[in-house]
Amino acid sequence: MNRRNFLKALIGISFLFFASPNLLASSAGFTLSERNRWTHIIEKDQFSFLAIGDMGTGWKTQYEIIEQMENHLNPGTDSVLLLGDIVYPYPTTEQDFKEKFEKPFKPLIDKELRFYPAWGNHDWHTEEAKLLKDYFVAPNYYTFVNGPAQFWAVNSNKFDSNQIKWLKESLSISKSPWKIVFLHHSPYSSGKGHHNNQHLIKNLTPILNEFNVDLCLSGHNHLYERSEKIGSTIYITSGGGSASLHKYDDKANFPRVKANSIHHFLLIEGNNKKLNLKAIDKIGNTIDSMNLEKNF
Ligand SMILES: [Fe+2]
Repeated sequence: MNRRNFLKALIGISFLFFASPNLLASSAGFTLSERNRWTHIIEKDQFSFLAIGDMGTGWKTQYEIIEQMENHLNPGTDSVLLLGDIVYPYPTTEQDFKEKFEKPFKPLIDKELRFYPAWGNHDWHTEEAKLLKDYFVAPNYYTFVNGPAQFWAVNSNKFDSNQIKWLKESLSISKSPWKIVFLHHSPYSSGKGHHNNQHLIKNLTPILNEFNVDLCLSGHNHLYERSEKIGSTIYITSGGGSASLHKYDDKANFPRVKANSIHHFLLIEGNNKKLNLKAIDKIGNTIDSMNLEKNF
């Protein structure tokens, strides 16, 4: 390869690692199917991101929540975690994407926010989320670093030995002050739709504890719930992105700080020492907030 072609290839590789998923999705010819090729690092001192789960209805509530997400953007807010069930009922047509993702999320897409999907059971139903994977050009599970936080998108539809091995290896070499895992199914929830997930409690939560994961964000239960610290980790269920709400049990069978059956999204910000989480409803009220601090 001559010098000119080498430089062209280098620019192409840099683009793959740093461009937003949306840019990638619209770039003809790229098929990123291996998780490591999706891994990237955004270098900065702070992080600010949004999270929303179970949002893919195309209903008025989805638009109201996204309007509030836009209202709460800060100058550093650069990404959105999608906590699964991105398109209801099953993402089978391009029309579904348009009506339930592209149209409602247009204000955030236009602002060039990055979208990081975790696959929900509805997404996974059609050919293991093939259509959505093609759209986002995203793999089954992956990790990325955004400033002082590292994120792991876990695929809770198929949390098997391969994924467990990957997650352990990846967590063991992380140097990030904040470790955040996100997935669709809640390990802990009292939501009357689904409750605790014993497979994840048995196979995932010991890993999060062992490697000092700070936050585990999930959806699936259409409500808001926040646990106390269980081992190293606080578990947040944020499945109130627009689908019909679930009730919660008055008495949860895990240590719970807060529960609210309400449509909402999350805004999470921080630096290498502090993290602030807010849950915000569709009229802009903060329904829960939490501060964490690192003591080095
Ligand atoms: Fe779900």
